[in-house]
Amino acid sequence: MNVLIVGSGGREHAIAQSAAKSPKVDRIYCAPGNAGIAQIAECVPIGAMEFEKLVAFAKEKEIDFTVIGMDDPLVGGVVDAFEAEGLKVFGPRKNAAILEGSKAFSKDLMKKYNIPTAAYETFDDPAKALAYLETAKLPIVLKADGLALGKGVLICHTLEEARAGVKEIMEDKKFGAAGNHMVIEEFMTGREVSVLSFVDGKTIKIMSSAQDHKRAKDGDQGLNTGGMGTFSPSPFYTKEVDAFCKEHIYQATVDAMASEGRSFVGVIFFGLMLTEDGPKVLEYNARFGDPEAQVVLPRMKNDMIEVMEACVEGRLSEIDLQFEDNAAVCVVLASEGYPISYEKGFEIEGLERFGTEEGYYCFHAGTAQKDGKIVTNGGRVLGVTAKGKDLKEARANAYQAAEWVSFGNKYMRRDIGKAIDEA
Ligand code: AMP
Ligand code: GLY
Repeated sequence: MNVLIVGSGGREHAIAQSAAKSPKVDRIYCAPGNAGIAQIAECVPIGAMEFEKLVAFAKEKEIDFTVIGMDDPLVGGVVDAFEAEGLKVFGPRKNAAILEGSKAFSKDLMKKYNIPTAAYETFDDPAKALAYLETAKLPIVLKADGLALGKGVLICHTLEEARAGVKEIMEDKKFGAAGNHMVIEEFMTGREVSVLSFVDGKTIKIMSSAQDHKRAKDGDQGLNTGGMGTFSPSPFYTKEVDAFCKEHIYQATVDAMASEGRSFVGVIFFGLMLTEDGPKVLEYNARFGDPEAQVVLPRMKNDMIEVMEACVEGRLSEIDLQFEDNAAVCVVLASEGYPISYEKGFEIEGLERFGTEEGYYCFHAGTAQKDGKIVTNGGRVLGVTAKGKDLKEARANAYQAAEWVSFGNKYMRRDIGKAIDEA
């Protein structure tokens, strides 16, 4: 079969690589892709938001199955556009992708269906939000309602900061239209875990857990980024946590969406906080995490395309989802200065070593081809993933492999997976 993948990051490279392993797949196309994906797929210069062009391309190339990697097109309704033309596509429709697209929607859903999450209020009037802050407990968390590249969340420790935050989000529109509405919620403490799942509208199957490192600098300092590295599984995701989430969170979310007439097909990413009062949902995403996909997919034993087809056809209950009994760590190699400003266009050397050694992967995020060379083309440049028999070995392997490649302004966190020493 012919497969089209929509997106251009490390996550899409990991998806493409899993697709390439499927015996069912003949050809892979990626729109728009990147220099790494181009080694295993034919990349086409169509943007992820150009729905008409994507649909026309899928028809022209007789694409049998399309996988949407990114949140923006999902929230914008790309799945509806494909389905309207009778094309098979993996991902939630617009009315279900709202689970990620609107934090107010997802909070209201959790409240209505008793799914554990932080206490909150929603606002569309900055004056009311400011008045609410006067009596609220600190620290407090402000969230722009819509998509904001993972940056629309402000944790405020003083009343002044919180007032300034409301102004930034709702009046200055720092995150654009995402700030027309906002959620103000209780600050929670605990360890964060990312749990990805496959969903077919009724059935949900949980993938192996992972943990991201969102801050730019070691010791969780510096600005929030798209993610500087991940490990899987999380040793903090215990059997007890799993049992609690199965009882109160996972199926409850899928059933809630179905009850609302918003049947969810695709990947639900549960951002969980393991609090003293038990696991609570921090956020939902309607897609694989990036860089969570880079540590979870390489450990999946199943044929990913087969699992995705089962989701689209409503027969996920037939699938026995299995993961390897090992661990993986992904270290993101970024451009110094990310996430604010950084130089691009430096040649990347040493990539050829990947592909020759089992259990090592180099997923491209911000790379491009230039004059026959591969150059840096973004903040997050590469995701170097290595497996190991346990997390310690995987971490040592990933940091060793991170030294195989070099480029101008290369930057990485040195403490990815360090938390596992406390487990
Ligand atoms: P979100 O995009 O909602 O996942 O938020 C981004 C990050 O902000 C999360 O990964 C947490 O680290 C933090 N965060 C979000 N909501 C809360 C909360 N209620 N309490 C504490 N930290 C939070
Ligand atoms: N790594 C977090 C995300 O993909 O949203």
